[in-house]
Amino acid sequence: QIKGFVFDLDGVITDTSLYHTKAWRQLAEKLGVTWTKTLEDGLKGISRMDSLEMILKAGNIQDKYTQDEKVALATEKNTNYVNEIKKMTPANILPGIKAFLDDLRANGYLIALASASKNGPTVLTQLKLTDYFPKVVDPASLSKGKPDPEIYIRGAELLGLAPEACVGVEDAAAGIEAINAANEVSVGVGDATTLADADVRFDDTAQMTLANIKAAMG
Ligand code: BG6
Ligand code: MG
Repeated sequence: QIKGFVFDLDGVITDTSLYHTKAWRQLAEKLGVTWTKTLEDGLKGISRMDSLEMILKAGNIQDKYTQDEKVALATEKNTNYVNEIKKMTPANILPGIKAFLDDLRANGYLIALASASKNGPTVLTQLKLTDYFPKVVDPASLSKGKPDPEIYIRGAELLGLAPEACVGVEDAAAGIEAINAANEVSVGVGDATTLADADVRFDDTAQMTLANIKAAMG
């Protein structure tokens, strides 16, 4: 019996994954790292410092920088990202999401946020969705990021539910892997190949309704 929903933020609730991509791409190209679709998809859901490491490895330059320099590079990316999200409004909520959240609330489901982003609360404020997410996992408190299940296990804990009573919602392969390893029901939104391991998948957020999820779960 499903009692709660644990949501990813970037690429699920809103289109911020585009801004993350833009800011990482700008940094990668400045460092001489070739940008590929594989790198772009692989970065989705990954924490800030893990993302930087992934980019440096892709360019085989992971040993070129000191830890302090790496922090400065990640901060540079974040400054660019924060400039983008400052301009966001509720118009940036992806199609159908507001109705989906309202439907979940009206039907008594508990809702938590499991975003790897330290900017998550700021984004929720910009979107005026803070009230929908009374429980937010603090990504700074995690020992491991996605694809490790820790963040989704923590989300269920915050709701006072067993993982088996939760649905996790994600747009990234690393996130689906985390949800599955946490023993929650995984709902993926996006590309079929990328999200091949999702229990339930929708092409886009507009199709992701409570009725469609229930129907797909049987
Ligand atoms: C995830 C995004 O939600 O958060 C990643 O999918 C991002 O692209 C990660 O790198 C960390 O975000 P932030 O805002 O803490 O740098
Ligand atoms: Mg995401």
